[in-house]
Amino acid sequence: MNNLAGKHIILGISGGIAAYKSVTLLRLLVKAGAEVQVVITPNGKEFITPVTLSSLSGKPVVSEFFTANTGEWHSHVSLGLWADVMIVAPATASTLAKMANGVADNMLITTYLSAKCPVFVAPAMDLDMMAHPSTTRNLATLRADGVRIIEPEVGELASHLVGRGRMEEPENIATVLNDFFGENSPLAGRKVLVTAGPTYERIDPVRFIGNFSTGKMGYAIAAEAARLGADVTLVSGPTALPDPQGVTTVRVESARQMLEAAQKAFADSDVAVMCAAVADYAPAHYVDRKIKREHDKVDSIELVRNPDIAATLGATKRPGQILVGFALETDNGESNAREKLSRKNLDMIVLNSLADKGAGFGTDTNKVTIITRSSEEIFPLKSKQDVAADILNRIIKDL
Ligand code: C5P
Repeated sequence: MNNLAGKHIILGISGGIAAYKSVTLLRLLVKAGAEVQVVITPNGKEFITPVTLSSLSGKPVVSEFFTANTGEWHSHVSLGLWADVMIVAPATASTLAKMANGVADNMLITTYLSAKCPVFVAPAMDLDMMAHPSTTRNLATLRADGVRIIEPEVGELASHLVGRGRMEEPENIATVLNDFFGENSPLAGRKVLVTAGPTYERIDPVRFIGNFSTGKMGYAIAAEAARLGADVTLVSGPTALPDPQGVTTVRVESARQMLEAAQKAFADSDVAVMCAAVADYAPAHYVDRKIKREHDKVDSIELVRNPDIAATLGATKRPGQILVGFALETDNGESNAREKLSRKNLDMIVLNSLADKGAGFGTDTNKVTIITRSSEEIFPLKSKQDVAADILNRIIKDL
């Protein structure tokens, strides 16, 4: 089971020969779908080039407090908050000593000191350094501080001596992190269904009834749920967005297809978030050739009501399942949202108003109010990723 998809990982690299193995570790983490930010010490750069690391991670490598020519400050604080986990591999004797004592003279240590996430170290050094009382003492301090030590192996070292001090193999480090997320993610073992995007209701082979939904909000929720450890199924109408990493994406077109796919996934879901902008009506009769203005003289199209997916799932909801809807309103938002909450048998509804600047279709931001039967919380304008995190935090509290 891949628990690394979408995870935010800081890979700290300090200056030891085992740094060459960090390239493989980085590649493994990225391949598993993790977002990796490399932080390297000045000595680390003597062993391995930042160009290799930034090419593989797709992010500029962080090493200095400032970018020399622009004076841009690199925030270790925001990095420390961003990360789900920090792994220092290799961790040299010097880096372990600085971590144990808070000697914040490089970016790796300042990042460690501001990291709110669990921290792992994979020590690597020569056998005598490994066995030295100071290293033993520093490791004991770090362990007491809550740092998880990935013990080095016994084997041939760069000095050609044989002993304890070889960094654990990258594959095994990746497995340790994968297992850690499997056990510790707040949504581990949970199944989450998300519907997203618009639906297209075909009139003829070239025309449809649709809406302006881009799917951004729903995709952000699916990606965030996966990052929090859930097994996610995203049922998406037509969008221009790529499938989120680590998510099972089912592409559909019409409301009926979306209903069918959503019902199938809902049966064993713990949580379902209905984010799709489902077309309310579909043409009663599909014409299987292009309708011609002059020839067919169509003045009106007969419509039929589409099924309400959220309400259909709400009607079959089992105790313990959490069903979340969205309400995009232009007026009387709160009372409309509360009415939908009860009519569709939802547990939570996320209200966003088209009247709010930066909220609604196509934007990268949203401003929402999360309403349950017993609570209401108004959030400020945020990125859709952060809104997704707020919604899932709220759901996790209720699970
Ligand atoms: O009734 P309204 O469309 O405003 O309700 C919005 C909520 O209901 C959203 O969560 C939306 O995904 C869901 N919905 C649905 N199927 C429909 C219409 C809306 O699942 N046919």
